[in-house]
Amino acid sequence: MVSEEKKIRIAVLASGSGTNLEAIARAAESGEIPVEISLVLSDNPQAYALVRAEKHNIPTKCFLISDFPSREAFDKAIADELSAAGVELVVLAGYMKLVGGEILSRFKNRIMNIHPALLPSFPGTHGVRDALEYGVKVSGVTVHFVDEGLDTGPIILQEAVPVYDGDDEETLHQRIHQVEYRLYPLAIKLFAQGRLKVEGGRVRIIPAEDE
Ligand code: GRF
Repeated sequence: MVSEEKKIRIAVLASGSGTNLEAIARAAESGEIPVEISLVLSDNPQAYALVRAEKHNIPTKCFLISDFPSREAFDKAIADELSAAGVELVVLAGYMKLVGGEILSRFKNRIMNIHPALLPSFPGTHGVRDALEYGVKVSGVTVHFVDEGLDTGPIILQEAVPVYDGDDEETLHQRIHQVEYRLYPLAIKLFAQGRLKVEGGRVRIIPAEDE
């Protein structure tokens, strides 16, 4: 239990099903990670992630890009919402927009993303499919800080996942998801404990005091 640890406030940005959000919410509720999810934001009003958030009594907000005159205005509105909620870490969990502008500058090295492949291989929207089509025998999961590129920021954690002969995109993604549900809460916990140091393009993990 980490109940005596100071909790940090995080926001989760999600566009889709939100199974990673679910894993993070459960880890927060059980005290496994010292965080409070202050807010779930989406760019998609149909995202099931919003339903999951409500089930966990987490406030939600939806930002439609069509409601804003420009991409800059959209990003600024999200950044303002995150700041107003006192968010210390922004967690992208299946968020289908590139995070840019004001969000990136205000939350430098405080935005994380999870990608369903071993970066820098197979960046982009179809990491699982691309790895499968290429024919790799090992793919995996990457948690990284977000920079201005597409899936290019400093890598926090990675774990390999085997690809089997009979796999299709769905079976491989299921196996990858199981690793994601463990790796993402761990990366968030390391951040909350102040144990991630970004040094150039690398992230150093400071050992726990009792390790
Ligand atoms: C995950 O596989 C994640 O790696 C990728 O998008 C997927 C989101 O799944 N960025 P879910 O919405 O958390 O179920």
